[in-house]
Amino acid sequence: MLKLGVNIDHVATLREARYRGRPAGEPDPVAAALQCEAAGAHGITAHLREDRRHLLDRDLRRLRERIATRLNFEMANTPAMLQIAISVLPNYVCVVPERREEVTTEGGLAVVANEDSLADLRRALNGSGIEVSLFIAPDLAEIEASARLGAQYIELHTGSFAESFAEPEARAREVKRLVDASKLAHDLGLRVNAGHGLTVGNVSALFEVPHLEELNIGHHIISRSISIGLTAAVHEMLHAMKGYPPS
Ligand code: PXP
Repeated sequence: MLKLGVNIDHVATLREARYRGRPAGEPDPVAAALQCEAAGAHGITAHLREDRRHLLDRDLRRLRERIATRLNFEMANTPAMLQIAISVLPNYVCVVPERREEVTTEGGLAVVANEDSLADLRRALNGSGIEVSLFIAPDLAEIEASARLGAQYIELHTGSFAESFAEPEARAREVKRLVDASKLAHDLGLRVNAGHGLTVGNVSALFEVPHLEELNIGHHIISRSISIGLTAAVHEMLHAMKGYPPS
């Protein structure tokens, strides 16, 4: 069964728009995470950014204490974030690239170019019992490097797929890149997740991609929750994911 990890960062984005610098405010990302779990989400994904523009350190600690499913901590490859991961002990870390100017995570991680430092990070996290995922574009060289440095998972960046969705030829090209990437990753012993830009309208086009374990989805679910509520938005996404893997 394909699992759903709900990324709750944008709940905190909304809170910070009004309550930045205050000790509390609404909406509460931890309450939202608990609601997603109650609605059937298999995990919660949270990205603590260097500039703390949405999630705050206190949110991450409360998530660790309160959620009953798996905590997927997205972080940049920095010594400060490694220390936070080791003290919070999420179930797994997804290493993401981070540039201050981007609104949300835009590109995949440059694994080939940073193989040694990512290998060090991987060893330190695994040494604390935390599994490691690398958020990468469906690029075969990046996948080979991810396997070489011993990551447990990759998360395939589906942003280009999502952007190509309205254009059939480009979409077919992007789906093929994801299929080839996932097959290679699986052959090399990596477990495969995917995420970015996924919606109830485009997710079924990913059903051709083999070996997927979990999709991490944030913006669409939080956006839909404004119209139909968070529980219904999670149900709607779980329903849209139901046909995977196709028989
Ligand atoms: N996966 C990763 C690694 C991300 O950084 C994000 C957020 O940018 C997502 C998944 C979720 O993307 P979206 O909010 O577009 O669903």
